[in-house]
Amino acid sequence: MQATAIRMKTMARMIILLAAAVGMACAACAEEAPPSAASDTIVAAIPPDFPPTYFQDRQSGKPHGFAVDVMNEIARRAGLKVVYVFGQQWDDVERLVLSGKADVAPNLIVDDARSQLFTFTQPVETVPIYLTVRSHESRFYGIVPGIKIGVIKESVGEHYLKSIPAITVITYSNLHSLIFELLSGQIDAALTATPNLMKLANEAGVGDKIKTVGEPVIDGKRAIAVRKGNLVLAARLNKVIAGFVGSPEYQALYRKWWGTPEPYWNARRVAGAIAATLMLAILSMGGWRYYSIKRLNARLTESMAGLEKAQRRLQEQAALLEEEIAERHLAEVNLAVKQEQLEEVNHSLEDRIATTLKEIREKDQMLIQQGRFAAMGEMISNISHQWRQPLNNVGLIIQNLQEMSENGELDPAVLDHEVRVAMDVIQFMSNTIDDFRYFFRPDKEKDEFIVNKVMAKTINFMLPALRNYGIAITLDEEPDVCILGYPNEYSQMLINIINNAKDALLERKVPDPRIRIRIFHDNELGVVTIADNAGGIGADVLPKVFDPYFTTKEPGKGTGIGLYMSKVIVEKNMGGRLVARNVPDGAEFRIEMPSCGPLWVAPPDGALQPVS
Ligand SMILES: Nc1ncnc2c1ncn2[C@@H]1O[C@H](COP(=O)(O)OP(=O)(O)O)[C@@H](O)[C@H]1O
Ligand SMILES: [Mg+2]
Repeated sequence: MQATAIRMKTMARMIILLAAAVGMACAACAEEAPPSAASDTIVAAIPPDFPPTYFQDRQSGKPHGFAVDVMNEIARRAGLKVVYVFGQQWDDVERLVLSGKADVAPNLIVDDARSQLFTFTQPVETVPIYLTVRSHESRFYGIVPGIKIGVIKESVGEHYLKSIPAITVITYSNLHSLIFELLSGQIDAALTATPNLMKLANEAGVGDKIKTVGEPVIDGKRAIAVRKGNLVLAARLNKVIAGFVGSPEYQALYRKWWGTPEPYWNARRVAGAIAATLMLAILSMGGWRYYSIKRLNARLTESMAGLEKAQRRLQEQAALLEEEIAERHLAEVNLAVKQEQLEEVNHSLEDRIATTLKEIREKDQMLIQQGRFAAMGEMISNISHQWRQPLNNVGLIIQNLQEMSENGELDPAVLDHEVRVAMDVIQFMSNTIDDFRYFFRPDKEKDEFIVNKVMAKTINFMLPALRNYGIAITLDEEPDVCILGYPNEYSQMLINIINNAKDALLERKVPDPRIRIRIFHDNELGVVTIADNAGGIGADVLPKVFDPYFTTKEPGKGTGIGLYMSKVIVEKNMGGRLVARNVPDGAEFRIEMPSCGPLWVAPPDGALQPVS
């Protein structure tokens, strides 16, 4: 099907060409002499603008290019001469050959379509045809649907793309237009002889703006197209082509036309670029320096501001601190003043306390004194009881002496006896007085003493008075109960308590008045209890009996000092304890003192024995 279509197309093209040959002559044909029929001159048709393969020199109008030189050399080697005619497009060139106006078209890329129209010689050149796009292109990596491809009119590229669907093909008459349409974005890609396209682009200084993608689309081979049927010419040319292509002469021509263009980076450009780069570097360094100095400045200003702020804050804090210090100093001064005042107060307080204590002590002394006086009063009444009998006796002795003297019965022996008896009685009375004196002499020093002894003496003093009132006194005692204290004061305390019992018993007219005294050890205490059967102390009275001046007795009879003084003697002066309580038939006073004598324990047999 495709082959038939191509043949049809070829036929049509031949008809057109024939018509053209008959009716028209191209501009180029008019200029050149008609091709000679001479067998050693051949006519070659070339396009005027496809460098560096072929092109027409603008000034001389002469043909130039790699293909022209190659054609000339091959012709020379084959003993031929070449004249050139220009066809505007590829199809013009083809038409010139097909019409017989030219014999050959040099360096035409061989493809199926052309092979139908011409007889080709051996290839004289290979040429890859890549898809070429703009260098920054990223959408197209090959011939894909939707792509817009530019080609040279009637070129191999156009032939190739005809069978590919869904693409747009735009034709151009020369490479210049193709390049610039590609660069301007009118088309997405170009498909043409890549070396020609690249060389032109490089020469135009836009070589870096385009790039090829992928593998070559067509691996083109250029050969000399000979008019179909002219096998003699083809053979004549082929004969020399094999020897020429690849020869040093061929290579020289190749280098001449395809040789690498002057490198873009020549000395001048490099120097310029270096200068520009240096300039740029200097400028950017300057700029950077300026910028960094500016930035540093800004930072400096900022930190200066921060510093100033910090300084201000510091000053404020310092001021606050100074204020605080001043306040503290003031507080310290105030404190010192207060302390001084306090010390003064303390001093005066101490003084006052001392004074008060002194007063209290004096008062106590006074009370003790008063108590002594009270006790003395009681003692004097006791003495009067003690002395009643001896005084009577002395009186009786004196009356007897008087009667005996009146009766003349007084002999010296009787007188002597009576006087001795009287003197004994007087001696007893004198002793009694001494004993009382001893009693009322205040103790100087604390002393260890045996409670039993002091108790015996005290009872002895009081016994006559108690007996007088019919009061029985009993004494239960552990021997040798020793305590530390003032024995006279202790005795005075005992007199007070025994007298109170006597007072209660008399006041309440108890029928069988009794006082029971016990002396014993209780752990490490020497204890004395004095109990009576006078009925006890009223519950409202009991808490107050040790208060000074508390008495329930009639005025003139009670002072309320006795028990107060006793408590002071026992607890304050001697470090003991004096308490009162009620027992079933009366009151009991208990006097506890720390024991100083040997410790006493109760062994199993019940008899107390000292512990060493
Ligand atoms: N054995 C006792 N029985 C009852 N009451 C007592 C006894 N001993 C003391 N009192 C009460 O304690 C009071 C205070 O006694 P005291 O201080 O010796 O002062 P005074 O004997 O001058 O009244 C007494 O007035 C009395 O009411
Ligand atoms: Mg009393």
